Amino acid sequence: MRILAIETSCDETAIATVKARGGLRRPYFEILSNIVSSQVAVHREYGGVVPSLAKREHLKNLPIVLARALRRAGGGEDIDAICVTVGPGLEPALWAGINFAKELKKKWRVSLVGVNHLEGHLYSFLLSQKAIGIKNKKFSPKASPRLRMASDGQASLAEKIKNFFPAVALVVSGGHTILMLMESLVKYKKLGETQDDAAGEAYDKVARMLGLPYPGGAEIEKLARRGKKTAIYFPRPMMRANNFNFSFSGLKTSVLYYLRDHQYAKKQNVAASFQTAVIDVLVTKTMRAANEYGAKSIFLSGGVAANKALRKELQKSAHKQDINFLVADVKYNTDNAAMIAVAGYINILRGKNCALRAQGNLNIR
Ligand code: KG4
Ligand code: ZN
Repeated sequence: MRILAIETSCDETAIATVKARGGLRRPYFEILSNIVSSQVAVHREYGGVVPSLAKREHLKNLPIVLARALRRAGGGEDIDAICVTVGPGLEPALWAGINFAKELKKKWRVSLVGVNHLEGHLYSFLLSQKAIGIKNKKFSPKASPRLRMASDGQASLAEKIKNFFPAVALVVSGGHTILMLMESLVKYKKLGETQDDAAGEAYDKVARMLGLPYPGGAEIEKLARRGKKTAIYFPRPMMRANNFNFSFSGLKTSVLYYLRDHQYAKKQNVAASFQTAVIDVLVTKTMRAANEYGAKSIFLSGGVAANKALRKELQKSAHKQDINFLVADVKYNTDNAAMIAVAGYINILRGKNCALRAQGNLNIR
């Protein structure tokens, strides 16, 4: 089945075409195109995303991004279904994508499926090399020997997918920090989440304090590489609390006070020490959940999963205990539409469809 997916929940206009097959027992994806047009430059001067500007940019970019996505995939004649993000996110931005998808549905006469952005992140582990050994290359008829090879590998995959569960999934983005327990691909529940700021939000706010541009996650990571992790001890809120919730607002405030009291602080040390505190909390709580629930795997996703230090630390801790660690390429962790196609395919297989209207506060359970 060929899926065209559209993602406009925040400040990236993203469209992907994905070939999906294998069903729930052995889902397999081939990314035919994955186009992301970022609006970062537009929002940067405001220090964050402005919803009305985001909508305007999506409306402008969608037709261009669609043309590129289809061209790269070799045309759109054989699209079987369209998947679109319906929430959570900025409602004006979401509507831009939903209305665009509705028009395409009418034009192409195909089905349209609403997708939860958080499930997009959650299922992005299916695009990790370890899950599928996915070949992220353009599809062409010439590729058939390779495709055959991939399908030969499917026997072991069916086995593997089952063996990944139970799993603990950490979704860390700009708006969310959630720990999930997954019994299977379709059976999961939330174990805990942040009680205030999301991890990515803390990164963005601390970046701002350090005079770094928005979005700050990648900027802090870069600066932190030159700093000393143990230079400053910042608090690890809720790390020892007997639950799977998080809190990052106190940590952010400690950085604020530290900077106020230490005018000549070395910024790279502040960045490195802050990042160490965030990673310490995320890894400690994820590992505790993995142990408590006897997880065979840990899945990491969301924009903050682009962070190399976090990927490395969580992988190290997981492997120390013989737990699988799955995370997709960075381009499938920051907002993209390939992950929406993956979640959309799972929705289609299980007969789930989110209502086709912008749901700014849509949750995951
Ligand atoms: O998933 P995402 O692209 O959008 C949301 O759904 O929120 O996540 C964006 C967040 C931003 O807060 C950004 O600063 C953070 O992910 N981020 C990072 C890195 N790259 C992006 N945080 C830490 N390290 C990074 N390398
Ligand atoms: Zn996201």
